[in-house]
Amino acid sequence: MRIVIFGPPGAGKGTQSQRLSTLMKAPHISTGDVLREEVSKGTPLGEAARTYMGRGELVPDELLNAIVSSRLAEPDSKNGMILDGYPRTIAQAEALDLMLEEAGKSLDAVIVIDVSDDDVVRRLSGRRVCSKCGAPYHLEFNPPKVEGICDVCGAPLYQREDDTEEAVLNRIAVYKRKTLPLLNYYERRSILRRINGEGSVDEVFSEILAALGINNQIPDQLKM
Ligand code: AP5
Repeated sequence: MRIVIFGPPGAGKGTQSQRLSTLMKAPHISTGDVLREEVSKGTPLGEAARTYMGRGELVPDELLNAIVSSRLAEPDSKNGMILDGYPRTIAQAEALDLMLEEAGKSLDAVIVIDVSDDDVVRRLSGRRVCSKCGAPYHLEFNPPKVEGICDVCGAPLYQREDDTEEAVLNRIAVYKRKTLPLLNYYERRSILRRINGEGSVDEVFSEILAALGINNQIPDQLKM
């Protein structure tokens, strides 16, 4: 299956995409993770993206389209993928359609995780992320077993630079202005599925599986 996971900052896109990726054995392609890696390596792409990301602004479409186009050309994306954080503008959605069309493929579903602004702020202020594998945690809702250490790979956790209050408020505003219009784009194609993102991580995952028509019994190893 080819799935887009969509929603405001902090909705749980990364959390749910990682679990779907494990269950479906399909790659989790997070444009935010790709950009953060480029920033940390200091590549020209990372240098170009850094200022936009720090302010909570979108990185220009042409950079994102080039990243996704080359990622989708890799062999592991041939039979399915979970796109997290892309597309975020109509121009990106049109570019994605073209990439898939040229490969004789199309999207199966766009999952929207709905979460209120208050919840977004609460989730992002308590978020910690693994410095090595990118696994997301929350100090209150999803704490690691050992404080400050990733359960998956044992690396230290850190707080993202764009999780400051000012950047979070701007990310919410940018989402409403530039990304929400995409919902109409996908609604017209009848592939949009809305999920209430305010339940527990397991409840949200279960709803996503049901919306995708997958047996919604969560395997034990993926339960929180
Ligand atoms: P990106 O990394 O994609 O950030 P985002 O969309 O703002 O989303 P987040 O990663 O902050 O949140 P999430 O929805 O993945 O939530 P998570 O699972 O971590 O992008 C960063 C920046 O890169 C952008 O601002 C932009 O500059 C640039 N960029 C990226 N893609 C781009 C594009 N296509 N075009 C242009 N620019 C682009 O969960 C959040 C927290 O909540 C965690 O602590 C988690 O443990 C907790 N949590 C999750 N689910 C639950 C739950 N059900 N209950 C309680 N807590 C929960």
